[in-house]
Amino acid sequence: MNWNDEKVIAFRKSLIDWYETNKRILPWRENTEAYRIWVSEIMLQQTKVDTVMPYFDRFMEWFPTMKDFADAPEERILKAWEGLGYYSRVRNLQTAMKTVVYEMNGIVPNDLEGILALKGVGPYTAGAILSIAYEKAEPAVDGNVMRVISRVLEIDEDIMKQKTRKTFEKALYTLIDPDKPGEFNQGLMEIGALVCTPKKPMCLICPLQSFCEAHQAGEEEKYPVKIKKTKIKKVFLSSVIVKQGEEQFIIEQRPDTGLLANLWQFPTVPKTDNQEALKLAFLQEYGIELQLESEPITHVKHIFSHLVWEVDVFVAQAITTQPSDLKLKTVTKAEMEHLAFPVPYQKMWQAFQKGETM
Ligand code: ADE
Ligand code: SF4
Repeated sequence: MNWNDEKVIAFRKSLIDWYETNKRILPWRENTEAYRIWVSEIMLQQTKVDTVMPYFDRFMEWFPTMKDFADAPEERILKAWEGLGYYSRVRNLQTAMKTVVYEMNGIVPNDLEGILALKGVGPYTAGAILSIAYEKAEPAVDGNVMRVISRVLEIDEDIMKQKTRKTFEKALYTLIDPDKPGEFNQGLMEIGALVCTPKKPMCLICPLQSFCEAHQAGEEEKYPVKIKKTKIKKVFLSSVIVKQGEEQFIIEQRPDTGLLANLWQFPTVPKTDNQEALKLAFLQEYGIELQLESEPITHVKHIFSHLVWEVDVFVAQAITTQPSDLKLKTVTKAEMEHLAFPVPYQKMWQAFQKGETM
């Protein structure tokens, strides 16, 4: 980050001034007692603000103090959470609050190390509690904050990666207002929720507009960078171990480029609905007329890095062959042993041999 002090100070002021006049009135903003901030941040981790509000109010009625919550029976705390989901959150919260009540004199730690040692408190929750309840200059990086900051600073690291959080924390240690860290952090959360939305951010009314690099480049929606986990594609195939007479087999060499280039395999076509269609596919692809044994002998699944093969394996006799295909070769078992077959085909061959000797 190459901002000078003046720019950093101006950024803080724009953000905090905006927050002070535009912040929503929310139940956990009535006061900044650590207990309340803690509960609200845990509730808000996987749940929307509108949903959390009534739960938060009821929680504070049922458990006005940390001790009330720490001592509550399990049914009661689960009832308080009923409908919020991710119930391990409330169990961890009680475990952690028992620790605070019975081992820390009822005082929530006010330093990173102490607070991170509590069950269910990660870097985000720690930063939120420390900044909002204790005015410590600690960043609180959640999804909203990453979206806003990635746009302001054009940070193009993949936010799905664990280590990217560090990049945001580093920038935020520079940006955060040491005098009003709680307002600073909540200001970023609030801008993320109300202005700098995932789609069509409202840059024209945004207090950060003049600082925002993505906006100046007209590329707001390019950020944050989120690399989708590519869904692993499934490929359904039928392979046939084709006997030619009593002693020989027809095998095929794969193309000399792409997956498993030049390796050998049993002739293989895309999976068909039925055996008649399979025979036809073989005739068209290889010029081989098959007499199929009735059922597949096995099913082989093989996972490549971005691909899964699901292969039904059949055995057949070749009735007629018009070897239209140079990639085909007729070999004995002994000859086959000298050729390289990919693992899924080795599995097929093992299944075939096992079946033969039974
Ligand atoms: N989301 C997470 N923490 C929040 C907070 N303190 N206020 C509003 N939304 C939030
Ligand atoms: Fe987000 Fe636009 Fe504001 Fe930049 S100017 S922080 S993109 S709303």
